Amino acid sequence: MKLRHPIDYSRAKTRREVLIRQRRDLWTPEQVESLARHFQLKPGMKMLDAGCGFGYAMRTWGRFCMPGGGLTGLDRDKRLLRQAGRYCRKEGFGRAARFVAGDICGMPFEDNAFDATLAHVVFCHLAEPEKAFDEMIRVTRSGGCVAVFDNAMTGSGSSGWTSWREPTVDERLLGHEVGLRMMKGRRELGFGDFSVGCHVPVWMEARGMRNVGVRMNERVVWIAPPYASPEQQTAYRNTLERVREPLRWDRVNKAEVAQMRAGGLARAMFDRHRRINRSVDQAFRKAVKEGTAAYSGSSPFWCIWGFKP
Ligand SMILES: C[S@@+](CC[C@H](N)C(=O)[O-])C[C@H]1O[C@@H](n2cnc3c(N)ncnc32)[C@H](O)[C@@H]1O
Repeated sequence: MKLRHPIDYSRAKTRREVLIRQRRDLWTPEQVESLARHFQLKPGMKMLDAGCGFGYAMRTWGRFCMPGGGLTGLDRDKRLLRQAGRYCRKEGFGRAARFVAGDICGMPFEDNAFDATLAHVVFCHLAEPEKAFDEMIRVTRSGGCVAVFDNAMTGSGSSGWTSWREPTVDERLLGHEVGLRMMKGRRELGFGDFSVGCHVPVWMEARGMRNVGVRMNERVVWIAPPYASPEQQTAYRNTLERVREPLRWDRVNKAEVAQMRAGGLARAMFDRHRRINRSVDQAFRKAVKEGTAAYSGSSPFWCIWGFKP
């Protein structure tokens, strides 16, 4: 039986959560500028956003290739590409942006076609990310930049604090075990690997890429009443949107069950973890309604770049 990938972009809720909400304020303006300098982006350059989704990376770093540049977004999902086109037009890229449907592991482009090739949160979904990496190098010209943005989790997730319910040590340990086993299951089933970012610097060096650099995303997301600053308003708006969407803690899908098995996680442990999460979620919703919710959080997310020899 073919299992659906656990992150399903045909669901509107997933698209909203991942491709819109998680992208708001993801990289600070300073980091965007600084990475553009590291990538040596210049007007007139041709940039590829591989696995572009709604085109977040091409819209964020494409402006450094303007005027005169050309942006290409590739994704296997045509519906996402249509929306990416609408966003790019809205942001004034007009005819400078084009979109191509295809697989990042075998892209329909000539060798050396681009000055810079970016992949933003794609490798962690792939069974064979190294294949995609080699494709990115192939389609980039000699001296051009290849940049990979991805998760680099070796633990089970983020660090931070919430005002509404402090988990006990036992709950935290349980959360780590569940997280690590689900990650292992995901890897074993070929659904991807949330630690993939950690491997990319080594892959870059092994292929003789020049001037390899790595930066961690420096954004700590936090909210604290009265949520007044522009940064707080963005974070609070994301929180309100999350609260408006019902969470279905009782529903477990086939992919999750398969991940449990492949990761060696007992169903009883998974269910206990979900019960705890449900009660945390209820406390969270109550705090948001009362206007007392405060939290801070970050997760390991890296940008790794290098230049093709
Ligand atoms: C987490 S989303 C990231 C989208 C976008 N880069 C961003 O950061 O907003 C992952 C994207 O990779 C695309 N994708 C997954 N596997 C792919 C493949 N083999 N070839 C091309 N695109 C793929 C998905 O359709 C989805 O748009």
